[in-house]
Amino acid sequence: MTDSTDWREAIENSRWKIDFEINHYGDLFYSLIRTHQPGKVVELGTKAGYSAYHMAHGLRENGIGGLDCYDLWENYEFNSCPKSEAEANLREFIDAGIVRLHQRNVDGLHNEYDSIDILNVDLGNHADLLEEIVMPWLPKVKELTIIEGGSVERDQVDWMEKYAKRKIKPWLDGLGEKGYKVFTFEPFPSVSLIKPK
Ligand SMILES: C[S@@+](CC[C@H](N)C(=O)[O-])C[C@H]1O[C@@H](n2cnc3c(N)ncnc32)[C@H](O)[C@@H]1O
Repeated sequence: MTDSTDWREAIENSRWKIDFEINHYGDLFYSLIRTHQPGKVVELGTKAGYSAYHMAHGLRENGIGGLDCYDLWENYEFNSCPKSEAEANLREFIDAGIVRLHQRNVDGLHNEYDSIDILNVDLGNHADLLEEIVMPWLPKVKELTIIEGGSVERDQVDWMEKYAKRKIKPWLDGLGEKGYKVFTFEPFPSVSLIKPK
């Protein structure tokens, strides 16, 4: 990835096709896995596998743990990529038994898990989606929930405004009253961490 001012073009030309790459969020995903030493990690929204790749790298270094990745890939009506791209990018971790890919809608998926250590949620996030998808997961997540977004800048991206999506930051602020603490890494697109108090 270059520091080109035309970062949209750089993203299109990258194998990951994701804005996490602009500010090197892979290092954060890797570090969170190394510091928390999770057994079971679940990712909702994998696309070409940028966040999954860096978390899987951390799991491999830890020597324990697995990552279940869920995405609709080519069945998603908006912006995604073919599942084969994720398979190619994550091949070494799939073959090592660290990563498993599942092509399905994540609605109701929490019912299939009793408890997990880390949840990463990146589904084209907005507050109504997070309320519906993330809230039922929170009591099942022992260590940490990671979500894409949470900064003021991320709440103002074109599609959030165009489709009048409910903003993420005020939703995160409200989690404080529900027994959770939240920390947001601000560089675009931003990443927020949710933990029980
Ligand atoms: C922003 S991308 C994920 C980026 C990925 N975390 C990365 O690091 O490259 C969002 C993904 O969420 C998937 N998605 C959106 N809604 C979904 C749903 N209800 N069930 C499963 N996947 C969904 C889309 O197919 C898309 O690939």
